[in-house]
Amino acid sequence: MQRVDICGRNSQMRGNRWDDHYARRARKEHRLARSVYKLEEMDRKFRLIRPALRVLDLGCYPGSWSQYALMRVGPKGYVLGVDQMRPDRLEAPNFAFFQADILHWDPSQLTDRWGPVDVVLSDLAPKTTGNRSTDAARSMQLCRKALEVATSALRKGGDFLCKIFEGEESVAFRQEAGLLFRRTRLFKPAAVRKGSREIYLIGWGKRSA
Ligand SMILES: C[S@@+](CC[C@H](N)C(=O)[O-])C[C@H]1O[C@@H](n2cnc3c(N)ncnc32)[C@H](O)[C@@H]1O
Repeated sequence: MQRVDICGRNSQMRGNRWDDHYARRARKEHRLARSVYKLEEMDRKFRLIRPALRVLDLGCYPGSWSQYALMRVGPKGYVLGVDQMRPDRLEAPNFAFFQADILHWDPSQLTDRWGPVDVVLSDLAPKTTGNRSTDAARSMQLCRKALEVATSALRKGGDFLCKIFEGEESVAFRQEAGLLFRRTRLFKPAAVRKGSREIYLIGWGKRSA
């Protein structure tokens, strides 16, 4: 039996509080996590991931976003994933994985070898402590790092999608992202759990190389 935890990962038990419609659907459709339905909805709406693109997926474990992106970019594109945990159920010739703590990761390791990417996705989420302000601060630290990575690894005109948690800091973060992208918007996909403050920021058209 399988279970889906806060990152949407399938593990080994049913009938727990994370086992909802999307988790059951993910098992049935052989997706690596329920969070894929958030990306799928945003991609259908905003057309972010297209054939032959180069996609960087930050916080990629267990791999459902990378799995989806691989399907969308096809054999002429590629997907690069970064996480502390290796997505061991994901293998593809056009998928490369960097195991790292993103907060200490230098994206030039990636751009030196692969060149700039067309899309940066970030579904990074810290381990929660239960303390609202600590969790919000850790999450914002990951968001700022994702924006920093986008600043250096994304090509001019490239797009950005980043999980954030609604709060005071999220307004400031959108303003920071607005300096780098021509247009930004916030969007909450249907698969976000009820009561969660999780929301996604989309940035279109990076202004400079
Ligand atoms: C919500 S899960 C991502 C789920 C993924 N998008 C999917 O659909 O399979 C968040 C991920 O962020 C990663 N993460 C959190 N902090 C990190 C850090 N400092 N460095 C690297 N990865 C981190 C976690 O290991 C976790 O796998």
